[in-house]
Amino acid sequence: MKPLIIANWKMRMLPIEQQRFARTIVRAVGSASDTHTLAIAPTFESLALVGEVLKTTPIALCAQDCFWEERGAYTGEVSPRALKALGCRFVLIGHSERRAYLAESDEIVARKIAAASAVPGLQPILCIGEDLTARRDGGYRAFLKSQLAAALKRVPKSAHIRLVIAYEPLWAISTAAELTGIKGHSITPEDCAEVYRFLKKTLARTYPHVSASILYGGSVDASNIVSFVQQGVSDGALVGGASVHLAQMKKIIFLFK
Ligand code: PGA
Repeated sequence: MKPLIIANWKMRMLPIEQQRFARTIVRAVGSASDTHTLAIAPTFESLALVGEVLKTTPIALCAQDCFWEERGAYTGEVSPRALKALGCRFVLIGHSERRAYLAESDEIVARKIAAASAVPGLQPILCIGEDLTARRDGGYRAFLKSQLAAALKRVPKSAHIRLVIAYEPLWAISTAAELTGIKGHSITPEDCAEVYRFLKKTLARTYPHVSASILYGGSVDASNIVSFVQQGVSDGALVGGASVHLAQMKKIIFLFK
């Protein structure tokens, strides 16, 4: 399977800037898609604009969130089916910033995962990750296991789904200080590999109906991801802050060859 790199632009640019930057990315790295899959996650209101730029390229469109109902009186929400209609191949669900700033609960995440995975051709990217307390006291495995259980509880065992899991330890993401009040630390490839083994074992044992690849996210940039790639730790990366810098993106993408 090709490595997957998701550029999560968060709310960092205006629509016109996102359209322009998408064009720049296409020119700079659009041809590198034989070796990996690249997806860009613009803001909701820019999905159509950026989607238009990506339409004839191998770069995929990814939404940063979705709602769990297909249609109805849900002011301000966007359904997974609407995302698919806009050309999205991926959708982020349960991002730590949404969990922190919008009080997105495990129950909400579970509903969104079930709704998005029911739309053919749309792949949910489930974001999970422990906080610093769970990492320090060794409770991170239990933490991750319960986040996984909560997120997958509404997916029927009879439905075989493909899922991407983005492992983003809360204490390692670049916005850690804003989310937790504690400055971000970085995880070592060895610690990350240990978490991956644990997640893969848990998935195989408890969720055989879920085929998952696992990405690493958390302050990823062109220098700290090198050792992850060299040690074959990750199936790809969820890149936030560095994804709005062309030079960084170019380096990250070519590292994953
Ligand atoms: P970061 O963000 O790379 O800026 O830490 C990653 C993410 O939260 O998607």
